[in-house]
Amino acid sequence: MRAVGLPRDDVFVTTKLWNSDHGYEPALEAFTESQERLGLGPVDLYLIHWPAPRRRAESWRALEHLLKEGECRAIGVSNYTVRHLEELLAQSSVVPAVNQVEMHPFVYDPELLAYCKGKGIVVEAYSPLTRGNRLRDATVAAVAMKVARTPAQVLLRWGLQHGLVSIPKSARSERIEENARVFDFELPAEDMATLDGLREGYHASWDPTDASLLRADGSRPSPFPRSLDCCQPSRPRSAP
Ligand SMILES: NC(=O)c1ccc[n+]([C@@H]2O[C@H](COP(=O)([O-])OP(=O)(O)OC[C@H]3O[C@@H](n4cnc5c(N)ncnc54)[C@H](OP(=O)(O)O)[C@@H]3O)[C@@H](O)[C@H]2O)c1
Repeated sequence: MRAVGLPRDDVFVTTKLWNSDHGYEPALEAFTESQERLGLGPVDLYLIHWPAPRRRAESWRALEHLLKEGECRAIGVSNYTVRHLEELLAQSSVVPAVNQVEMHPFVYDPELLAYCKGKGIVVEAYSPLTRGNRLRDATVAAVAMKVARTPAQVLLRWGLQHGLVSIPKSARSERIEENARVFDFELPAEDMATLDGLREGYHASWDPTDASLLRADGSRPSPFPRSLDCCQPSRPRSAP
């Protein structure tokens, strides 16, 4: 941003609380460290990255404090299932602004979407392109051909029509532009239904159903895919 002179208000800055920083004081310290490293003043959104067992309620209390103090403009969670959200809302009157979860047709979760919608929680879809793993799926390709768009655009448009805020990642400018061109067409209802039908519980990233799978220090046990490494913090952590 500084290098190209991009105005601060043109960028929506999100950062997250890493798994090993849960708890009231550790969360406050981790936030301060993130904020200092960013050097951008208040962040737009601060998320709990994962519903780590035992200390997540204390972490949420820390996020509430940061919100009250104006250190961040909104607070939210990530990888929270309905069970985690119900637990949080039973203990707090501050509703998360966002729940960032993996969402695309292959892991479509209408129950979670309806629950979040009912509570006014925006569902932010990560890995909305299945990390590229299902872009050649025959059903997605057929819908793409029908509407004369790319499979990536079909997946993103599907999310848009479900009210998701999708956060696709690409390191290539032409794909970033392609992924942004999803506001000038609509998927017919029958194609939405066809895509909804692809639901099979396929997680390109990770499955938060059993949050206790994560070790207390935030590291992952071996069954997690290596691709999770993208979620590792850049600063050094103690070994598992
Ligand atoms: N909260 C969490 O636990 C969590 C977990 C995972 C990810 N995330 C976040 O979610 C965001 C995106 O997720 P993601 O990177 O996992 O997956 P993704 O956006 O579904 O997929 C990214 C992959 O798709 C490729 N791609 C992008 N646009 C494309 C296009 N138009 N056509 C073909 N291929 C395309 C990219 O390659 P190129 O770069 O070469 O274009 C990259 O390999 C990231 O910001 C990530 O940090 C959050």
